[in-house]
Amino acid sequence: MSGKLIWITGLAGSGKTTIGKSVYKALKKKQNNTVFIDGDTYREITGQTFGHDKKARLNVAFQIARMCKFMTGQNINVVCSTISLFKEIHRFNRLNTKKYYEIFIDTDLEVLIKRDQKKLYSKAIKGKIKNVVGVDMSFDKPINCHLHLTNNSKKEIKVNINKIINLVK
Ligand SMILES: Nc1ncnc2c1ncn2[C@@H]1O[C@H](COP(=O)(O)OP(=O)(O)OP(=O)(O)O)[C@@H](O)[C@H]1O
Ligand SMILES: [Mg+2]
Repeated sequence: MSGKLIWITGLAGSGKTTIGKSVYKALKKKQNNTVFIDGDTYREITGQTFGHDKKARLNVAFQIARMCKFMTGQNINVVCSTISLFKEIHRFNRLNTKKYYEIFIDTDLEVLIKRDQKKLYSKAIKGKIKNVVGVDMSFDKPINCHLHLTNNSKKEIKVNINKIINLVK
């Protein structure tokens, strides 16, 4: 038996946590063996020991991916919201997790800059911070994802959640 890995990826502010939490809640009601892990939460529980340069981002992404493999291997469904936009990670998940669902939340950069929840984009544009994915750091767009979603407006949130639930049920 193996659990599902629902890997929700996209740039900062794209809506991964918002959508991931709702997908988790819906799935948990039907299958109690379900957990939610967020990239930010993983950084917190590992003591904020990772930076945000490319090497650190790849390291933390691999740790998250390996942990997801470990949990799905024990029949736990994992809903994972994380940026981790590396082709190596997408490949690792595909190779190592039988029931893998890759969901790319492809929110427009102009929308992200307007949203700017964590003020990352405004700071990066002003040159006050570095290592912001999509601004001064390149990323690998998922090329083979199971769902490619836009999430530019509020009305799309529910639609996207339902699309993911339908895919994985
Ligand atoms: N479709 C949408 N329309 C408008 N606002 C949205 C939409 N989806 C999410 N938001 C809002 O955008 C902000 C960022 O969403 P969220 O925290 O889910 O993104 P994230 O991808 O997890 O970001 P991060 O990578 O920084 O953790 C939140 O304030 C959220 O309420
Ligand atoms: Mg988030």
